[in-house]
Amino acid sequence: MHFDPAVTMRPPPLKHNPYTALVMPRPIGWVSTIGKDGIVNLAPYSFFNAVAGDPPCVMFCANGRNRHDGGEKDSLRNVREVPEFVWNLCTYDLREEMNATSEHFPRGVDEMAKAGLAPAASTKVRPPRVARAKVALECVVYRIVDLPPTHDGASNNMVIGRVVCVHVADEAISDGKIDVLKLKPMARLGYFDYAVIDDFITLLRPD
Ligand SMILES: Cc1cc2nc3c(=O)[nH]c(=O)nc-3n(C[C@H](O)[C@H](O)[C@H](O)COP(=O)(O)O)c2cc1C
Repeated sequence: MHFDPAVTMRPPPLKHNPYTALVMPRPIGWVSTIGKDGIVNLAPYSFFNAVAGDPPCVMFCANGRNRHDGGEKDSLRNVREVPEFVWNLCTYDLREEMNATSEHFPRGVDEMAKAGLAPAASTKVRPPRVARAKVALECVVYRIVDLPPTHDGASNNMVIGRVVCVHVADEAISDGKIDVLKLKPMARLGYFDYAVIDDFITLLRPD
């Protein structure tokens, strides 16, 4: 089958929009930000990825409306006010907390505290990181890119950040390498489904 997404995203026999189940698995951008009022925000963004290694840069996309006032999502508003964010690695042990921080709380609610997570002060940026996250990247916003708006005129924005400090917990390192099996990172599949990384293969390059 094939279909034109400008016409429909639910052609039969698909019962739901399949898009997030097509490009998968996606890493979870668990992003902490802070507003100019000093209130911390934490939310998961699976339109997220590392986009450059030298210098290291990551991006997340805030899509559509804030359910409370129809404006931009709080993470986006915060980086417009304080252009810094922290990416926190979501591992299996943090899955419930990550999911809890996707709730559409009104602006002004500290979602890190609401999810029962302690903050740890960042080294170079104002937003704190999640203390229990075993990897965290402190970022300074490099650019906010306008993407085409949604069908009903809401904004889509890609926030690109340059990594200025990297945190890795000692326990995440085995034999001089990041131990993915110990970390058990979460990735987003489609619908309400997630992958947990508990296996991998190694392929050496041909040249
Ligand atoms: C795993 C997961 C991934 C998500 N990815 C995105 C995303 O890429 N873009 C987006 O706009 N919302 C995404 N959401 C929904 C946001 O987390 C949700 O709208 C949240 O309330 C936004 O918070 P904020 O307004 O505090 O920034 C995702 C939710 C979950 C559970």
